[in-house]
Amino acid sequence: MIRVDSIAALTEQLQHWKDKRFTLGLVPTMGFFHEGHLALMRKAKSQCDKTVVTIFVNPRQFGPQEDLQLYPRDFEGDVAKARQQGVDLLFSPDPQEMYPDGYQTSVSVAHLSQGLCGTSRPGHFDGVATVVAKLFNLVRPKVAVFGQKDYQQLALLQQMNSDLHFGVEIIAHPIVREEDGLAMSSRNKYLTPLQRQKAVGLFEALQHAAGCISETASVPASILITAVERKIMDIEDCVIDYIAVVDALTLRPKENAEPGDVIALAAFFGGKVRLIDNITL
Ligand code: PAF
Repeated sequence: MIRVDSIAALTEQLQHWKDKRFTLGLVPTMGFFHEGHLALMRKAKSQCDKTVVTIFVNPRQFGPQEDLQLYPRDFEGDVAKARQQGVDLLFSPDPQEMYPDGYQTSVSVAHLSQGLCGTSRPGHFDGVATVVAKLFNLVRPKVAVFGQKDYQQLALLQQMNSDLHFGVEIIAHPIVREEDGLAMSSRNKYLTPLQRQKAVGLFEALQHAAGCISETASVPASILITAVERKIMDIEDCVIDYIAVVDALTLRPKENAEPGDVIALAAFFGGKVRLIDNITL
């Protein structure tokens, strides 16, 4: 596996592969790999000649009160895991390489960045769209793989890809879950053993709500939201950020939930660890 941390070295290596007409698959990440990340890498590998993984804890997507400094990192462990998956190139720039002095440009996806996680994380999705646009331009991949756990991020990046004519084939990878159903996340590491045990309640609440809707009928969204709310309010040490039933493409809140809609939620454990999850009805 080739490791580069400068844009110049990345561009030089990619040029060799492009000269040979190799197709590139991109998996942008912030590192601290778990099985969810590795599944994205395997997917990219199955679709392209060469797989490029990026590790960059993007400061622009963290708010002033958020956990940028505390974001978990294990670079050497990540290198070993990526190598094991047969990743061809690992790009791990530092913030100065991505945002040199005088950097000014930001990408903003107007509507899809609002609501849901956008409400409690203002500016977050501008940071995500900006860094992914830069990575798309640097790598020019044929495909890029993103996980469905970050549902709003995925929808917004699909919109950006279409609006800005990147022409990347974006692959949505299903949520990878722990054995008990908790969605895998780098932030799970911050849960105490008891919180970790209880955190599966988020997925159970979503499953419960999904079970309230039949394949044909529509149900008032408020009924599903209340059902999820009740379950989560029973989880010790857990505070709801939001629960919403939204259209799968536009992410607009639905009055009546139908099969194909998405229930998305975010909740805090111990006041600090913010977990997200979603389920398609
Ligand atoms: O999902 C993530 O890990 C990040 O938001 C991403 C897409 C790598 C952009 O920094």
